[in-house]
Amino acid sequence: MNRKVTVVGAGNVGATVAQRLAEKELCDVVLVDIVEGVPQGKALDLSEAAPIEKHDAHVTGYNDYDASAGSDIIIITAGIPRKPGMSRDDLISTNAGIVKNVTKQVSALSPNAVIIIVSNPLDAMCHVAYEASGFPKNRVIGMAGVLDSARFRTFIAMELNVSVENTHAFVLGGHGDTMVPLPRYSTVAGIPITELLTKDRIDALVKRTASGGAEIVSLLKTGSAYYAPASAAVEMAEAILKDKKKILPCAAYLEGEYGINGLFIGVPVKLGAKGVEEIIQIKLTDEEQAALNKSAESVAELKNILKKLGV
Ligand code: NAI
Ligand code: 2OP
Repeated sequence: MNRKVTVVGAGNVGATVAQRLAEKELCDVVLVDIVEGVPQGKALDLSEAAPIEKHDAHVTGYNDYDASAGSDIIIITAGIPRKPGMSRDDLISTNAGIVKNVTKQVSALSPNAVIIIVSNPLDAMCHVAYEASGFPKNRVIGMAGVLDSARFRTFIAMELNVSVENTHAFVLGGHGDTMVPLPRYSTVAGIPITELLTKDRIDALVKRTASGGAEIVSLLKTGSAYYAPASAAVEMAEAILKDKKKILPCAAYLEGEYGINGLFIGVPVKLGAKGVEEIIQIKLTDEEQAALNKSAESVAELKNILKKLGV
């Protein structure tokens, strides 16, 4: 294929991202991990599925970055996931070192790539990758809002017994307990859910969305979600590879938009070949803006922790 995506981290999210990219025949995939044999083994296994899945994407696995050179997109999933009782923020000291190290190596070989960060704590890891890569802000993007919005959409569809395809939702803010689901901008067949559901029911769906990651962790017990996170990262990669100009909620570096400065946080952006091509500024009520500000404060606290850690 004539497009290349490197996926760093061949664990649950990374391997599933590789599978979805290949099966959608979007690009060749280079899978990199530090554990010897794992990226090679998973890549070979995925390649052996290709005749049955009917695609000609090449998936290869390595423990170094040479084959990643000239990638169009780099998706970073390297790091540790949380276990029951841990918050995403508990991962910061381990994952900051990993994300800094892998970003330096992979970005040097693909200086024109768009980086999509998946590793947690998401918004803080975007900062680490932004600084480590030296890439312009439009080419460092975090995956969280697409996942959180998909969770909200799933719960809306379950509640109203309608097709998920009829649902649309926006979840903004940081990827943590302070995320900001926006019921006013969440619709079923174009109808705002505020006209279809009582406030109590909406509040319950919002609460379930905000703890959607923890719900999966408490069920799996040994790690965190990966099927939906992989789908979300691939939706972003597809929008970039196909230059779709698709509006999706992503963590983007804000410089004054929404009154927030110098932070990565989830907002609606237009994704195309250049990465973040526009930050879409929607009108928020005072209450929604206050929730977004609170979420930004918790991202700022994580940024301070990074400073203390010297990352
Ligand atoms: P996992 O443990 O299955 O996979 C992580 C992989 O990273 C492992 O294979 C490990 O060997 C590899 N790795 C560690 N250090 C590395 C290095 N220096 N270079 C290359 N590879 C390295 O974890 P999983 O479930 O795939 O999650 C990965 C990360 O993504 C976690 O931090 C998790 O919290 C985060 N995540 C974020 C989501 C989001 O919405 N932003 C959703 C789901 C997961
Ligand atoms: C999630 O929301 C772990 O951040 C990940 O599932």
